[in-house]
Amino acid sequence: MPKIPLVDVGAQYAPLKDELRSRFEAVLESSQFIRGPNVQAFEEEAAAYLGVKQAVGVANGTDALVLVLDAMGIGPGDEVICPAFTFYATAESIAQRGATPVFADIDATTLNLDADDVAGRITDRTRAIMPVHLFGRAAPLAELSELGQPLIEDAAQAFGGPGIAQTGIAATFSFYPTKNLFCLGDGGLVTANDEELAERVRTLAFHGSRDKATFDFVGYNSRLDELQAAFLRVFLEHLDEWTRGRREAAARYAELGLGDLVELPEDDPSHVYHLFVCRSPDRDRIREALTAAEISSATYYVTPLHLQPALRFLGYEPGSMPETEGAAQENFSIPLWPGISLEIQERVVETVRAAVGAPVS
Ligand SMILES: Cc1ncc(COP(=O)(O)O)c(C=O)c1O
Repeated sequence: MPKIPLVDVGAQYAPLKDELRSRFEAVLESSQFIRGPNVQAFEEEAAAYLGVKQAVGVANGTDALVLVLDAMGIGPGDEVICPAFTFYATAESIAQRGATPVFADIDATTLNLDADDVAGRITDRTRAIMPVHLFGRAAPLAELSELGQPLIEDAAQAFGGPGIAQTGIAATFSFYPTKNLFCLGDGGLVTANDEELAERVRTLAFHGSRDKATFDFVGYNSRLDELQAAFLRVFLEHLDEWTRGRREAAARYAELGLGDLVELPEDDPSHVYHLFVCRSPDRDRIREALTAAEISSATYYVTPLHLQPALRFLGYEPGSMPETEGAAQENFSIPLWPGISLEIQERVVETVRAAVGAPVS
């Protein structure tokens, strides 16, 4: 058997190749590659899918965050609270605006922001909280919204999760090719219910201009390409089926007894399993066994953001985020994608079982 990948995006879009080619042909024939009808249609379809009023296509998920912060007027002197256990772009976007990322610790079970820890970090400079729906599980939005700060939902890993984008002043998404909803390159989206905020994002993403003649703000060039929007429209139609496939595969790992060997991600109705991330103090031994068995695995945020060289100026010390640092040392993900076979999942579980020395079931 060839090496088992962590995710198999190619297998996901293989049945759609003819459809993708015909959408490509149509864009090619139209010669309209920027701000064409597919971008507009995708924005409308994504907004309807997510149950929000406004959606603005942008170049990637990082720009989506920067644009929202800019549209909210967040900059030097302002603080935004976010997790340190997330992809770098979350905090990078805050620093990029000249504002200060303030890190809060996570809950050890959900791996998402701990609302109590967040509460203790609010100051009179706090302008927003940026929860991340990590690995596809919703952050505790109800608890966080009680803290009286606007929430900017970093939903890069959670398109299609129930309730996502409903609570925050804005939500941001990435369509990087491994995401739950993805395109064939870079892409991103900002959603909001506030029409003024969405319009400001739209304008900022287009050089701060509404008409390319008058420039009202110093903005950015950050647009979703017409071709990517055309592909996204195809993929959006399959997202529900893919999400079901992810949840079924996650349930199957539990049925196969993996939970007796390592700590599984807690099942939650919000979880769309962008990644299947487990915990174990024996992580390194397990990963060595998986590698020897030609099974891919990965670790995430092993150096959490509060300890990254670029953010050292913020002054966080090792040991200052105990749950974050614990998760950094113990987490690892195993193969999961919509349509992963039972045979592969059994092989993964048996390899983990042998690595931790548990008897064969
Ligand atoms: C939590 C999180 N935020 C932001 C981003 C940035 O998205 P992009 O790579 O599209 O810029 C990512 C992408 O990996 C992410 O996982």
